[in-house]
Amino acid sequence: MTMISKPIFVTGGAGFIGSNFVLEWLACGKGPVVNLDKLTYAGNLANLANIYNDSRHTFVRGDIADTKLVERLFAEHRPFAVVNFAAESHVDRSIHGPGDFIQTNIVGSFRLLEAARAYWSGLPEGERTSFRFLHVSTDEVYGSLEPGAPAFQESHRYEPNSPYSASKAAADHLVRAYYRTYGLPVLTTNCSNNYGPYQFPEKLIPLCIHNALAGKPLPVYGDGQQIRDWLYVADHCSAIRRVIEAGQPGETYNIGGYNEKTNLDVVQTVCKILDELKPVTYHSSRITPYASLITFVKDRPGHDRRYAIDARKIERELGWRPTETFETGIRKTVLWYLDNTNWVGNVTSGAYREWTAKQYGDRGV
Ligand code: NAD
Ligand code: DAU
Repeated sequence: MTMISKPIFVTGGAGFIGSNFVLEWLACGKGPVVNLDKLTYAGNLANLANIYNDSRHTFVRGDIADTKLVERLFAEHRPFAVVNFAAESHVDRSIHGPGDFIQTNIVGSFRLLEAARAYWSGLPEGERTSFRFLHVSTDEVYGSLEPGAPAFQESHRYEPNSPYSASKAAADHLVRAYYRTYGLPVLTTNCSNNYGPYQFPEKLIPLCIHNALAGKPLPVYGDGQQIRDWLYVADHCSAIRRVIEAGQPGETYNIGGYNEKTNLDVVQTVCKILDELKPVTYHSSRITPYASLITFVKDRPGHDRRYAIDARKIERELGWRPTETFETGIRKTVLWYLDNTNWVGNVTSGAYREWTAKQYGDRGV
């Protein structure tokens, strides 16, 4: 394959998973990266500070829906593959305002597919065969599982319940159609909840670490018994690398961590690790457990009860399995946030405070 000298075209590479992917791709010596990111509130160049002077990384600020720009990037850089991370990714924000989700996740993905198709059609035979368009999607497109129901397989029907998951589902359908209709060599990955370094503190785990350290309430929606499957972000990135390398065009691969937990368990685990690593003592020198900050708040509308991923296909066909357990991954994550309080301080700016006021103000937190 021509993977060594030709660049990979990453979109959304200044966000949480995208930046982890770019950093690891370069650290693995996989070749140059062209990174297109709009730098919305969720995109942050500080995530890429470690590769600031790395000539293998070309960062371009821009929108995946900007056809002229995307066409120019394809023509100039001639990538061997695209990985589309760019998205509006937060379910609660999609409930407050779905418009941006429709624009980026659907229209943006469509325009990116069109530009990729035009570029791919003009490639010489060998390069056309080895080209890949990997679309990063989510387990949320499958909807909500009953307790005890089998985990999502790739053939599970799509039943998205939030504007976010509906917009991701629409993009997945377009990706599929571009394979069936035009033969574009696409790959789709549907992954469970990620956690790890550089996750924006609007998402459950970093929000709780951030709030706990500030002595603020830890908001748990509803009864806290909703179940998610948790995957350490580096494991998601290694799965994507493996799918680019060996995935079959037109196929979808579920990616998960085999770590089903209730939200309340997750928050309590974070609290226990913080109790150990950063105990809070008051004048009496009695330790106050962080779990005392847990506050049950009004539930998320349309809140999916359970997600669970059956990741046996990617294991069987591509030999990928996660390396972190939840216990090892969550400890690394808490340590990272404790060591990177400057990063957190920088992202929790004015815009972040406005969001938390809007989201939690009427929940009494
Ligand atoms: P994120 O919100 O942290 O990052 C998204 C990035 O996309 C940001 O850097 C943002 O600036 C950029 N972006 C947004 N709109 C853009 C546009 N129009 N053009 C170019 N760039 C744009 O998201 P994340 O958590 O890193 O998720 C990345 C992808 O993985 C998303 O597609 C998401 O649906 C998917 N996913 C996320 C998870 C998770 O647990 N976080 C799990 C499964 C799948
Ligand atoms: O499942 C994959 C998805 O995981 C990705 O596709 C999304 O991009 C990503 O944001 C994530 O979605 P969730 O809605 O599951 O993640 P979030 O961290 O927002 O919430 C995790 C669970 O915790 C969910 O059941 C809602 C709950 N929650 C969340 C927040 C922010 C709370 O109880 N309190 C909170 O304050």
